[in-house]
Amino acid sequence: MKKITIAIDGFSSTGKSTLAKQLAQHLKYIYVDSGAMYRAVALYALQNKLIDGAGLKTSQLINALSAINVTFIYNENLKTSEVYLNDVNVNKDVRTMAVSNAVSIVATVAEVRQQLVDLQQQMGSKKGIVMDGRDIGTVVFPDAELKLFMTASSETRAKRRFDELAVTESKVSFQAVLDNINSRDHLDSTREDSPLYKAKDAVEIDNSNLSKEQQFDQVMSLVNTKLLA
Ligand code: DC
Repeated sequence: MKKITIAIDGFSSTGKSTLAKQLAQHLKYIYVDSGAMYRAVALYALQNKLIDGAGLKTSQLINALSAINVTFIYNENLKTSEVYLNDVNVNKDVRTMAVSNAVSIVATVAEVRQQLVDLQQQMGSKKGIVMDGRDIGTVVFPDAELKLFMTASSETRAKRRFDELAVTESKVSFQAVLDNINSRDHLDSTREDSPLYKAKDAVEIDNSNLSKEQQFDQVMSLVNTKLLA
């Protein structure tokens, strides 16, 4: 059976990873959450005091890049892969608000992007991959057979993220989550290197009013068209 590359881009908390995981499980493809890779680098920067109230120590982070090893290992129980930073499972640690607040700045650094993009392209060299992020259809896999661009209103997205965070960080307010989403949207789409935008050949999916099942069915019919092409 022919294998394709599926690139999913879009704003924060638009359900990219939920859809990507569903597709990868169904198609028996590799799933890569590229945001988790940027988050792992941001976690490293926080752990090593390279980022604080005064901002990011960019040149120190660049010098440390050769010591930052980001990998994924498949977890049989969870039926998905988890992100590791220098061989330590950081899958939960990369989801905290502290990392969410630091990651968009870290993702503006061209050297960080280059290192992670190289790794992402290696992971996808044999196709049969679903990757989600901000620049997957535009920079990482410009030749992907299927490109999706996901959107939803910022309130809908903040509500989803707030419900998710309530389990681990009950002190975080809805307003703080909404502010973080709006500021990340702004940083992600205005940065100089690889800003978030919809590739010309991407299919836009606004899932504000779509159930996960409806969305999956819609996308699977696009996948099937590409598999038969
Ligand atoms: O998908 P996410 O919210 O976990 O991504 C975290 C941050 O990483 C996001 O604010 C921007 C950055 N990112 C990026 O610049 N390029 C990617 N391909 C994926 C994520």
